[in-house]
Amino acid sequence: MTGKFYGIGVGPGAADLLTVRAVNILKAVDVVCIPRSSAEKKSVALTVAQAYIETAEILEVSTPMTRDAAVLDASWNKGAEEIANLLRQGKNVAFITIGDSMLYSTYTYLMKKVQRLVPDVDIVSVPGITSYSASAAYLNLPLAEGAEKFVVIPALDDPSELNTILKIFPNVILMKVAGQFDQIVDVLEKLGKIDKTVYISRLGYAEQFVTYDLRALKNKKLDYLSLIIVKQGGF
Ligand SMILES: C[S@@+](CC[C@H](N)C(=O)[O-])C[C@H]1O[C@@H](n2cnc3c(N)ncnc32)[C@H](O)[C@@H]1O
Repeated sequence: MTGKFYGIGVGPGAADLLTVRAVNILKAVDVVCIPRSSAEKKSVALTVAQAYIETAEILEVSTPMTRDAAVLDASWNKGAEEIANLLRQGKNVAFITIGDSMLYSTYTYLMKKVQRLVPDVDIVSVPGITSYSASAAYLNLPLAEGAEKFVVIPALDDPSELNTILKIFPNVILMKVAGQFDQIVDVLEKLGKIDKTVYISRLGYAEQFVTYDLRALKNKKLDYLSLIIVKQGGF
């Protein structure tokens, strides 16, 4: 019998922000696959989920920090092959991922590849609390109220796009901001929105950091696990 493949969003960081479903699956599966980039000493997702992994074997799946499509595809293919072999042996396998499993996660690429390799596999994706939901809750900051729109934008190659985005959306979540942070701050300043902005990094981890003074972070090396919330209506 082919094993089941689970994709588990383990939430934003705090060990008590995983779902009961995620915890039950982590306790029961044979193998837990963890995404690991060469930049990490230890998989962040494993740090979050570790307390709930009792007997499962751990398999590291390399997830390089690159935008090179060929390198990424090769590493996902390798990971998918390893997972497919385990599933064919009848093992139940869970891949863990930070935040929600369906939002900017390596899991979704692996899921599609595993499905192609093992067409009869039963795939169960388990949602997790996103980093921005947890950040908004931590700050007691509504993401949107009434008819307000909100939007989630990843790594802006061209931060001047914010000009258009802010005309449409009063509430904006900017994810993966570390690489373009200074340019984003410059645009927000130019648009007069810098005081409507909060920066959160490593929410739920020991290194958690929150500031409303984004200018003070310019020219600094920022953590990859960082996001910005723009609340044009103010705080
Ligand atoms: C590859 S995406 C993963 C998103 C994740 N699946 C989610 O649902 O939040 C990585 C980005 O998520 C955000 N992020 C994830 N965890 C975070 C945390 N604990 N604190 C702040 N931002 C976080 C950052 O913007 C980071 O660059």
